[in-house]
Amino acid sequence: MFDLKKNYEVSRKLAAQGMVLLENNEHVLPIQSMDRVGIIGKECLNLIKGGGGSGNVKCEYVKSFADGLREKAEEGKLIFVENTIEIAEKTEAYDVCILNQIAATTDKVIITMQRQGTEGEDRTVEEFGPTAQEVELLQNIEASDIKKVILILNFANVVDLSFIKKYPKVKSVLFASMPGMECGSAIMDVLCGDVNPSGKLVDTIAYTYEDYPTAEWFNYNPRETKYQEGIFVGYRYFETFAKEKVLYPFGYGLSYTRFEYSNYGFVEEEDNIKITLDVTNVGACAGREVVQAYCSAPQGKLPKPALELKGYAKTKELNPGETETLNIQFAVKEMASYDTEGVTVAKAAWVLEKGIYRIYVAKSVRHLYHCGDYEVAETMATEQTINRFTEEKYIQKQCRFSDDIFEIGEKISLYDVSDGKADMDSFINQLSAEELISLGLGQPIAFPMGTSGIGNLKKYGVPNPQTADGPVGVRRSVNTTCFPCSTLIACSWDQELQFAMGAAMGYEGYSTGIDILLGPAMNIHRDPLGGRNNEYFSEDPLISGKTAAALVKGLQSEGLCATLKHFAANNCEDSRNVNNSIVEERALREIYLKGFEIAVKESNPAYIMTSYNLLNGEHTSANAGLLRGILRDEWHYEGATMTDWRNGVSMVDEVIGGNNIKMPFGYPDEGEKVLKAYQEGKIPLRMLRENAFYVVNSVMKTRSFKQHDFGIIHKMEGESLDIPVLKVNGLASARITHARREDGAEYLFHLNREQRNQRSFVYYVLDIPKEGEYRISAEICTNCPETQIWFYDEDGNRLGTAYCSVATDESKWYTVETKINLKKGENMLKLVFANEPYKEYEYFFAGPEIPNAWPELAKEDIWMAKLKLSYVNK
Ligand code: GAL
Repeated sequence: MFDLKKNYEVSRKLAAQGMVLLENNEHVLPIQSMDRVGIIGKECLNLIKGGGGSGNVKCEYVKSFADGLREKAEEGKLIFVENTIEIAEKTEAYDVCILNQIAATTDKVIITMQRQGTEGEDRTVEEFGPTAQEVELLQNIEASDIKKVILILNFANVVDLSFIKKYPKVKSVLFASMPGMECGSAIMDVLCGDVNPSGKLVDTIAYTYEDYPTAEWFNYNPRETKYQEGIFVGYRYFETFAKEKVLYPFGYGLSYTRFEYSNYGFVEEEDNIKITLDVTNVGACAGREVVQAYCSAPQGKLPKPALELKGYAKTKELNPGETETLNIQFAVKEMASYDTEGVTVAKAAWVLEKGIYRIYVAKSVRHLYHCGDYEVAETMATEQTINRFTEEKYIQKQCRFSDDIFEIGEKISLYDVSDGKADMDSFINQLSAEELISLGLGQPIAFPMGTSGIGNLKKYGVPNPQTADGPVGVRRSVNTTCFPCSTLIACSWDQELQFAMGAAMGYEGYSTGIDILLGPAMNIHRDPLGGRNNEYFSEDPLISGKTAAALVKGLQSEGLCATLKHFAANNCEDSRNVNNSIVEERALREIYLKGFEIAVKESNPAYIMTSYNLLNGEHTSANAGLLRGILRDEWHYEGATMTDWRNGVSMVDEVIGGNNIKMPFGYPDEGEKVLKAYQEGKIPLRMLRENAFYVVNSVMKTRSFKQHDFGIIHKMEGESLDIPVLKVNGLASARITHARREDGAEYLFHLNREQRNQRSFVYYVLDIPKEGEYRISAEICTNCPETQIWFYDEDGNRLGTAYCSVATDESKWYTVETKINLKKGENMLKLVFANEPYKEYEYFFAGPEIPNAWPELAKEDIWMAKLKLSYVNK
């Protein structure tokens, strides 16, 4: 049964698990039950739940500090000084006098530092340091009687935190990032010790912006970005060349307890490094620990970073004195470096240079425990590839399809392919060039805030699966769960919870008629000013890849298709459509593509979205080296690729480059140009066929295909039964005009406007001949674009939900269906009509935005439904 509240819990749990405690002096945290706690500053009244753009999710509420503090006060975990909220509401600038008033009634105060982040624009250097207002507040606090300050960092991008050391009253600092809709509560969970902080940093925090190796080269020119630093991104740079510039190292985070590592070591088995260690909680309270595994490769002909993350694990919650044995494993070949030029033993190859590879387990990149050494006696290539960006243009050597024209026999539907009655190649070969091209174009949007459909060749059984943003929640016009931003998700290092978040989003998306989620987003945090860093995970590709894979697995476990984005090297937002990322092949392979490679291989996402930027002179969506060479030939990816929205790149170039779908809906002229290029012999038929193959292959994985959801009447399978309806009963608020149809199994009813403002439902009493699973379908006719029928049994248990994501006029009927289990004999079935999954439909119609958004709802009769049951053969 659909339960949004459960998903809110996942959001809260993940947020709290991700938060990183950076400072905790004089045991200010956790807050104790007798502590009088208040807030200072207007920012505390409106916490930032997440970033803008595709990461902005509409949700039922956003928990404030006041909510969080009140919850904890009610549980007796602190004393909430409520009037600090009122003071914040009316105070623009806190002078010493106001602060002294607050000091008189509080023991500990909370302040926050906030920064936004959104797609389409980068952050500025000015925002990197503290603002004049922030400095003034801190100075006044120092001059006042306030004694203990807890600073909450409510942003995802790294900012300059070195100034904090100048203000000794700031005792504790919590990196809460953008924690999603439960932010106030999740922060208070950590501050009160209900959750012992176990998040660790996924980015290095240096002293100043200029300390970052990219600072000089970030956004210096709207047309190009030189990735001068090569592989030395984030901690790879700092730990190798500039240790002294680091304020908080990668992987760092405090806890309210302490952990000891013992018995650490590794064995090599079947080309894998298998590390084991014991982690013991030697402190006074329960907690979890993230253990990282690093490798330090020998300096040979290829320069190497001092340390590289190779694996990680997180303990369960350990009680004081409790020990857990952890295993961390990675392949020996993961320690190889990419040799672009052939300075070692091979060119365009992954190479293990001879020497000692030191293996560590670690609390952070600075807190290492030496597990042992792995020796490579002779330099060797572990994998030979081709340089895709520095040598001649990619030439496709093999194609699954030919240019032959086949005689068309009986029409093959995509369902024939999925049922094993026909093969995929025959399905593709029957399509005309126009039909093949149409499969490469974005298709109509079926509901508000949807982003576009794909496929949509109905006469061949290809439905129009719907996409929606985005990375931290299903972005819809209806409320869904807003999860923490991607950076915070990664800071949890908790793949189990990340899977749970993916599954929660999967369920919400699937239940609201979505097929394809446009996420996770997983570009590298190359520079702290990256506008979309909140949507991306980390400066490190391993943690990015593993986090994305866990989310994709979760999403797809619930039937929602995932889309990894933005492939690749989208690391700045200003002028993102024209910016050319100039990246050396080694840095691409080891840093910018590595995370995608891990996620593709571990989780097989149904879709990949290319990026807006150019990569080494070519738009990524038209980049055959990237899309055909690396993605298809090397990684053997079989899903579909789509462009980012309105990218302005020629679809002809994209078809040649290997991008499969031009997004969004509304570019038929681009399709015309592809047709012309085909007619002129510039694009061969086999290329159009191959492109269409990837599209339909991925469509077969979608909800719409599996549910036969065409937005039109679809075929009914199973043994059709004439099930007697004993009575239509209890027409509580919906006075239904029904007419018994000739076959005795269908009813027709209308709900008028007045009725639909109430909870409208209808009871059926059915006489079921044998116990089993029934396909129940209702034909409905509605001008509401998002319609659902919920099926309940007489005890109020939801048995199933049928969805229709298309509006129509009265002449068109849609069939929605679901499967439910019914017992033999009399079954009472309640049908509730709803417009979104969480509230019965009265909410939708009564909601404040609806009359404007959907003026046509003023019509009188908008609902009609016919009910039909058929038994499902097992
Ligand atoms: C773009 C964004 C993508 C995708 C798309 C659809 O602006 O870059 O990530 O979400 O919009 O909304």
